[in-house]
Amino acid sequence: MKLIDRTRISAGTLALVTLTAISTGFLEATPALAKAPQQKPVLTASAVAVADRYAADAAEQIFREGGNAVDAAVAIAFTLAVTYPEAGNIGGGGFMTLYVDGKPYFLDFRERAPLAATRTMYLDEQGNVIKGKSLYGGYAVGVPGTVDGMWEAQRRFGKLKWKQVLAPAIHYARDGFEVDEQLVKRRDDASKQFDGKTNFDQYFGGMKQGETFRQPELAAVLTRIANDGAKDFYNGRTADLIAASMKGNGLITKRDLQDYKAVWRQPVEAKWNGYDVITAPPPSSGGVGLVQLLKMKADLAPQFKDVPLNSPQYIHLTAEIEKRVFADRAQYLGDPDFYKVPVAQLTDDAYLAKRAAEVDPDKPSDTKSVQPGLGTSMPEKAETTHFSVVDRWGNAVSSTYTINGYFGSGVVVPGAGIVLNDEMDDFASKPGVPNMFGVVGSDANAIAPRKRPLSSMTPTILTKDGKVALVIGTPGGSRIFTSIFQVVNNLYDFDMPLKDAVGAMRFHHQLLPPNTIFWEPYQPIDGPLAKQVEAKGYVLKGQDFNGDIQAIRIDGDTPEAAADPRGRGVTRIVQ
Ligand code: GLY
Repeated sequence: MKLIDRTRISAGTLALVTLTAISTGFLEATPALAKAPQQKPVLTASAVAVADRYAADAAEQIFREGGNAVDAAVAIAFTLAVTYPEAGNIGGGGFMTLYVDGKPYFLDFRERAPLAATRTMYLDEQGNVIKGKSLYGGYAVGVPGTVDGMWEAQRRFGKLKWKQVLAPAIHYARDGFEVDEQLVKRRDDASKQFDGKTNFDQYFGGMKQGETFRQPELAAVLTRIANDGAKDFYNGRTADLIAASMKGNGLITKRDLQDYKAVWRQPVEAKWNGYDVITAPPPSSGGVGLVQLLKMKADLAPQFKDVPLNSPQYIHLTAEIEKRVFADRAQYLGDPDFYKVPVAQLTDDAYLAKRAAEVDPDKPSDTKSVQPGLGTSMPEKAETTHFSVVDRWGNAVSSTYTINGYFGSGVVVPGAGIVLNDEMDDFASKPGVPNMFGVVGSDANAIAPRKRPLSSMTPTILTKDGKVALVIGTPGGSRIFTSIFQVVNNLYDFDMPLKDAVGAMRFHHQLLPPNTIFWEPYQPIDGPLAKQVEAKGYVLKGQDFNGDIQAIRIDGDTPEAAADPRGRGVTRIVQ
């Protein structure tokens, strides 16, 4: 993998972005609903941890123009849609956990099933899942939410003009960016999967490592969004282009787009180890899963005492609590607008103490015996991307957004250059049959028109005494919350420096396949450790991915940031 200079500041790029903004006249104000009050700086600097250097440059630009964490986050999201097209997006959706002016917020801009979607749309006449239909091509696409999400967040809390936060993305789309080795590899893998069945190669086939890649159609879309706001995407020229791309090749109509709305929800909040954990509620399973993991590990403190990090016994105990979390996830988690998710019960201290007490410290429990704990069991894609942002006023944004698999459905909107998601695969196509992440689901996550598919995205913020202590998140599908859990443990239970905590080995278990521990190529479980884990009754399986954590920790009044060495992410501290 090509090494990236993690501290480089691209002054030339910044100057160019500023010029772009001025020369294209993007300077009129967009009216705000309610802006955050002007606060006094409480930190020595603003900070970001993001998936690529262009997004870091964009954030720095926004901070230098006086923007806050929300302005920077929105600029990052639009920039990644251009420079990190495998997962950054405007054709997908996601979640944003915010801490603004001392208060927690959560914005759900997850995709929704189209109005014409049906529970059995991915089944053949015999009731079997049609391979690939929920993954590739137009029928895999959910109604995108990213543009409305960014519009909502920036209007509510941003300080800058809407056009200012779009300017970096427009610049990179119109004038291009240098293509990274990792991006080319992901393009090649995706192209093989799409196998000429979508128009993917027409748009991305010509991308070459080290060369400048320009996306003029996407630049035009972003320019319209800068001028007209989210309404271009949902009810304007861009909406027309998206709807046209679906004719005879998918379900999304203009009415679906007009109907889409991002939703402000109550975040999941929990007390843990002296911290307030603020994280993702349903339709993500991630926040509930993270809280369950943290609390059950605390309940098992006597069993974990003196157990070395990532030793066979640590892997066993962790897998046992993960098993119970995934049993609950498969049964109880879905879109709260359609299904009453028992969040309070699932994160209740007494309930989790009881579940933790079922763990046998000596051997794995029989998978069949681990039933959902509140009374009856889903896979998923690991791609997606996350960014963490804090500003000098002490505000924080933790946002994970996705088009599901790398390059989503492989469908690129003709005339718009927008890569569309394959988020419909996150529904349970057929309850009990695994999705691309190998997890199964129940009725709670069955397909219905306007419903949001269950996610694992877990954008998280930890505060202490009302001040932001940690901003963290990662891609990884069902590996997301188990990865965040491990990094949080490395930090607070093992007192590791932030970079080491993010870089340390990670593993994953998710109930199914039975007693299987997934390891990652970055730091494989092999040699004597593998033999000892197998001797405990586990099967070891390699996977090609275990996250791309982006984290910021605040120590006193000074932020430090870490980008996962597994990806091409960078950090930036802006004084
Ligand atoms: N598409 C991955 C997730 O939402 O968790």
